[in-house]
Amino acid sequence: MPGAGGMSATSLSRRSLAAVWHPCTQMQRAASVPPLGIVRGEGPWLFDDAGQRYFDTSSSWWVNLFGHADARINAALKDQLDTLPHVMLAGCTHAPAVELAERLSALTGGVLGHCFFASDGASAVEIALKMSFHHWLNRGRPAKREFVCLRQGYHGETLGALAVTDVAVFRDAYDPLLMRSHQVMSPDARQALPGESATDVALRAAAALEALLAERHEHIAALILEPLVQGATGMAMHDPAYLRAARALCDEYEVLLIADEIAVGCGRTGTFFAFEQATLPGQSLIWPDLVCLSKGISGGYLPLYLVLSQGRVYEAFLDDDVARGFLHSHSYTGNALACRAALAVLDRFEQDDVLARNRERAKLLTKALEPLQTDARIEHFRQIGMIWAFDVREPFLGARFAERFHLAGRERELLIRPIGRTVYLMPPYVLTGELSAWLAGRLLATLDDVLSQAFTDPDHADRPPEPPTA
Ligand SMILES: Cc1ncc(COP(=O)(O)O)c(C=O)c1O
Repeated sequence: MPGAGGMSATSLSRRSLAAVWHPCTQMQRAASVPPLGIVRGEGPWLFDDAGQRYFDTSSSWWVNLFGHADARINAALKDQLDTLPHVMLAGCTHAPAVELAERLSALTGGVLGHCFFASDGASAVEIALKMSFHHWLNRGRPAKREFVCLRQGYHGETLGALAVTDVAVFRDAYDPLLMRSHQVMSPDARQALPGESATDVALRAAAALEALLAERHEHIAALILEPLVQGATGMAMHDPAYLRAARALCDEYEVLLIADEIAVGCGRTGTFFAFEQATLPGQSLIWPDLVCLSKGISGGYLPLYLVLSQGRVYEAFLDDDVARGFLHSHSYTGNALACRAALAVLDRFEQDDVLARNRERAKLLTKALEPLQTDARIEHFRQIGMIWAFDVREPFLGARFAERFHLAGRERELLIRPIGRTVYLMPPYVLTGELSAWLAGRLLATLDDVLSQAFTDPDHADRPPEPPTA
């Protein structure tokens, strides 16, 4: 039976509702939006137990880079499965972890390395925060124990990561439990005042950061940010000038810079690491002190998260005293299967010239989405690398916009989950001209369905229709 205004539940989704507590879900409403019972994946497609297919527009929460059940990653995993699925990484090591650490370090020209493996994104952030503080402690600066993060930033949902996250729906209930952090202005380019460019906004945000660091740097261990795109808040994009300024300020005020590349790494913004775009042409590369990487690194197969650090951070832990080492650990740290999947992902980047081909793919989808650029119902159409986003203007939203959009998308073979009023696409790196045209057509049709419904169905209209303000 469909729930009120919702969808039919298949037998798998009905069993799931009874047995599974789903993430990021108000379970009381879940019957109206039953989970899709997915039984198979192939390329960008997911197939449910009712035989319907869906295009995975967000690469399954931004992890799946080369489509589902990719033949080359499958083959690597099958080989690893028969050889060594897992061994603990304390007192032991294994070739996939070593090779992965070596290759990732090489991608930074050797500036970052000593890969510390974690088990999920939030734990990578915890590690980076603990490492920053402990690094200053070991250097005789125990007062440096505070963290700076950006408004609208998202770094995961364990207590430490949530303390540097500014997305109310995830954070507010737990606020009494969280350590205090400094939140500074986001460089989100959508905040541009009349006449201001994205660079101007970035510099304005950098000035706010400088004011805090000038006053408080003796107490600040690290600044954490998502380079170029604040994803979970709604794909808020900023000018790389902010990253340059942040790097310079962190150097000046002796504050470590943590780049959370969990969502934006692995080519998502056009370069392998988003932070690479901070460097101006012809200048020597600038890097953060710590990089958290995950999601796409294992191609959407297995959880694998890691922290890369610069030598000066790593060296602060070298001592005869065990307690001055970084003793953090998780049981599945550096899982061999996950590392092997990541090596297959890196192979694909090299063998298929993925970054160059993504530039072509991005042009195709941007062209197919052109009608959005002049659509008066939306604003802030934006794109970087393999991320596209736009915001539906308030007067057109109606009630429960994101949920209705998601459900309407299912009717058109799209698995799509807007964030508030932001609709975004973060597809796997498999787009062709034909797929781009199909995807754009279905997206535009879904938008039309949902926005017209807001005005015609009283259940969905929580305000009278108004013309857009600009
Ligand atoms: C930028 C960023 N940091 C951290 C995380 C947390 O990762 P996980 O969900 O694996 O804990 C996410 C997840 O979306 C993220 O986007």
